[in-house]
Amino acid sequence: MAFIEWNDADYSVDVREIDKQHKKLVGLINDYHASMKGDIDKARMKKLLDNLAAYTAAHFKVEEKFSYEGADAHKSEHKNFLPM
Ligand SMILES: [Fe+2]
Repeated sequence: MAFIEWNDADYSVDVREIDKQHKKLVGLINDYHASMKGDIDKARMKKLLDNLAAYTAAHFKVEEKFSYEGADAHKSEHKNFLPM
């Protein structure tokens, strides 16, 4: 079973592109979580984590182009989440 199971009722924001990217993020998180089980391959884990970090940063840039209630606060959360 995946660490996170996507379901529209809980996670969809009803914006196709953002939902698509969020699903991709869930997949990357699940891949990383799966890599922590069984035989540990640190090189693979690093690659998965690097991919997750890069995709997250790219996703935040896309998401911040949208205007919605609470967008400024959400943008601040993005800024706090990402490393310097
Ligand atoms: Fe997002």
